[in-house]
Amino acid sequence: MKVIAHRGYSSQAPENTMAAFGKALDVGNTHWELDVQMTKDGEVVVIHDETVDRTSDGEGLVKDLTLDQLRQLDFGSWFDEAFTAERIPLLSDVLQTASEHDVWLNIELKTGIVQYPEIEQRVIDLIHQYDMGQQVAISSFNHYSLKKVKEICPAMPIGLLYMAGLYEPWHYAARLGAEALHPLYRSIVPEIVAGAKAAGIALRPFTVDEPALIQRMIAAGVDGIITNYPERAAGLLAAKP
Ligand code: G3P
Ligand code: MG
Repeated sequence: MKVIAHRGYSSQAPENTMAAFGKALDVGNTHWELDVQMTKDGEVVVIHDETVDRTSDGEGLVKDLTLDQLRQLDFGSWFDEAFTAERIPLLSDVLQTASEHDVWLNIELKTGIVQYPEIEQRVIDLIHQYDMGQQVAISSFNHYSLKKVKEICPAMPIGLLYMAGLYEPWHYAARLGAEALHPLYRSIVPEIVAGAKAAGIALRPFTVDEPALIQRMIAAGVDGIITNYPERAAGLLAAKP
């Protein structure tokens, strides 16, 4: 089972920064989930929200700011003064570090609110540039975006994010050619686990933080969990009888 650090080790460092990915690295055998949006000048950057307001000392939409403008901003102090030096990472920065440390990445396309021109193509090109095609899954709540990924690159693994109690979602996954389902943890029940397994579709629920919940997911036999507490999850997994 993959332990996937949600936005990096985001309970220990500001989310989606190199500090958060570095902390996840310290846990060992931990993978990373991250969110991407696109700047005014077409660069793919790692940030959860469409605006920089919540996680930096600046304001405005990512799509209206250039990379140079974004790089002036402090993406750490909102979390803790110790992280004042954190800057917004490019997807290429994360791909570079992940490839050096053999980390598997879940890259989430934030294409639900702002429609970024050609972001799917750009992300695929970057993944190939770092030779990470076998080490990633692209996910999104926008399944049209994921369909586009598959049209551009049929071999690129995709994970369908969703929050509803879908009926037999592995059939839907198969229609899209998806390798994985990334549901909200609440929909994990035995028949979903069994059905996905039989169909050869990986199940990686989010966001699984409470110890009892982590244990339930381990016992259910999911393929990965996306968590803000990767150390806790790794510990419980290691202690599994
Ligand atoms: O990929 C799981 C999770 O990251 C989806 O929700 O809002 O944290 O990106 P969010
Ligand atoms: Mg995400």
